[in-house]
Amino acid sequence: MKKHWIISLLLCFCLITAIVFTGCSGNTTSGTSDETTDAATVDEAKTDGIDYMVLVNKTHKLPDDWEEKLETVHITNSVGDDVEVEKKAYDAYLELKAALEKEGVYVDLDSARRSVADQQRIMDEFTEQYGADYAAKTVAKPGFSEHHTGLALDLYLIIDGKDIVENEDMIQYPEIWATIHEKLPEYGFILRYLEGKEYITGYGYEPWHIRYLDNPDIAKEITDKGTTFEQYLGAYTGGEVSIDYGTSGIYTEEELKDAVIQIECKFAFWGDVDLKSIRYAGDEAVTEENLARMNEINPESNYTQVVEFLMDFHTPEDIGELTFNADADYTDYQWWLARTADDGWEIVTWGY
Ligand code: DAL
Ligand code: ZN
Repeated sequence: MKKHWIISLLLCFCLITAIVFTGCSGNTTSGTSDETTDAATVDEAKTDGIDYMVLVNKTHKLPDDWEEKLETVHITNSVGDDVEVEKKAYDAYLELKAALEKEGVYVDLDSARRSVADQQRIMDEFTEQYGADYAAKTVAKPGFSEHHTGLALDLYLIIDGKDIVENEDMIQYPEIWATIHEKLPEYGFILRYLEGKEYITGYGYEPWHIRYLDNPDIAKEITDKGTTFEQYLGAYTGGEVSIDYGTSGIYTEEELKDAVIQIECKFAFWGDVDLKSIRYAGDEAVTEENLARMNEINPESNYTQVVEFLMDFHTPEDIGELTFNADADYTDYQWWLARTADDGWEIVTWGY
């Protein structure tokens, strides 16, 4: 059993190194104009247009020539932060915002275009504060964030004149988000990280993260189908994933769901590997002995609980950098997570 864990650890290491990171140079410029005026500053006039349908996700990095073509504006939001946005996306956002205000819904821009350095700073903060797995489901790797495009906008809510900017606070207003989401396609936006599609997008549900496509018809088609941008572009080749939370006398389904989302978001780095199913391995795995193993692997962690899931997947013929066999079925592939002191799940090890 011990040897098994060592193999798992080695495999973890190989997989992490297999995620090839290619950085892109980013530029930040300061902006002074106010969003409430029409005085947004255009950074530079660019001759070549950008591709508004560009896919940037965990396995598709920002195109190399992107910044040469990108035309942005800077605004100052209600909390005094500078926000940089692609020019057409900003115009469309203003229309969306005006339409929402007619319904009594007030929003502002928390973050839009980010440089690679900005993204690195956010990644470091999240990793430090919440751990690497929470960061993996919430923050894109620098170079692989849709925010680099200037076309992804994070909204925040203004309720009774109060700015609601923290994720955990914003999530408390599902009805307001529903009103916002309904209006998105008309202005060429889609909601990017859908609930229940984490195994495709690689991120947890983000009601605030909207993406401009410059095409209301396509935005409407994607929204009406309830599909992801990846699926619309044919960039997700897998099928539906079966998830079985089983029956647990220890954990609620909500707790198990949180753990599964962590696994899915990690799994999304594996590109074309076709995920078939994830299932709870059962309360039998929740033993003091297994918890002790988790704490042995990461002695600093002081984990309080353990959970195991089993996964089935099929590898593509070409598996690139991954250390799996090509064109093979993997069954009962193990994922072990442990509960941290602040109640979050952390993936401790995985593999056969
Ligand atoms: N929050 C999204 C995934 C990003 O960091 O790009
Ligand atoms: Zn975002």
